[in-house]
Amino acid sequence: MKLINEIRETCPPFCLAYSRLGKENTVDKNPITKDEVLRIWPEINWIKDKEIREKTLNAWVWAIENSVLTPEDLGTIPFSLLIRDCNVSFMNHKRTCVQLAVDIAKRMKKNFGDEIDIDMDTLISGAILIDIGKLLEYEIVDGKLTTSDYGSKVRHPFSGLAIAHRFDLPPDVQHIIATHSKEGDLGKRTVESIIVHHADFVSFEPFKN
Ligand SMILES: [Fe+2]
Repeated sequence: MKLINEIRETCPPFCLAYSRLGKENTVDKNPITKDEVLRIWPEINWIKDKEIREKTLNAWVWAIENSVLTPEDLGTIPFSLLIRDCNVSFMNHKRTCVQLAVDIAKRMKKNFGDEIDIDMDTLISGAILIDIGKLLEYEIVDGKLTTSDYGSKVRHPFSGLAIAHRFDLPPDVQHIIATHSKEGDLGKRTVESIIVHHADFVSFEPFKN
């Protein structure tokens, strides 16, 4: 405990990360309501299973409450800080990815029939949650949004997985979060993860400089 206290006093970025994934909430902002989250994420209501829907929603409420960003910010900030002159917002990028994933899955089910088994609730929840860890990657320095020290060391597939685990989301959903990015290239992705991975890729790659 003494070590943690010493680290807290000497290393603020670590403290923030420690607090965010632990029990405390150090970001000073008003509580976020479920309705506020559903306004920016109407696709959460596409999830038919009540339990998965609630867990997905609660994870987003928690992530925004523990982020320097507000729901409004997410509709205006560029989806990547690495792309110059990026005018596509975080929410536009994320919602497009979810919508594409659903379109792809529906077409595959229609054309491949019984040859393919895709769980739509798993796919939608996973697609909605893949970048939830990004909310912990940002900090504001001198009024400018930047990647935090924590964010540069613990990329969002890992922090996102920690959030999903915290809210007891099913293993198949956690798998999508963990494998949606390049970190998942070494393993074997489920069909839902393959679809989300590609839907995310096509919503990102064309905008890279
Ligand atoms: Fe991502």
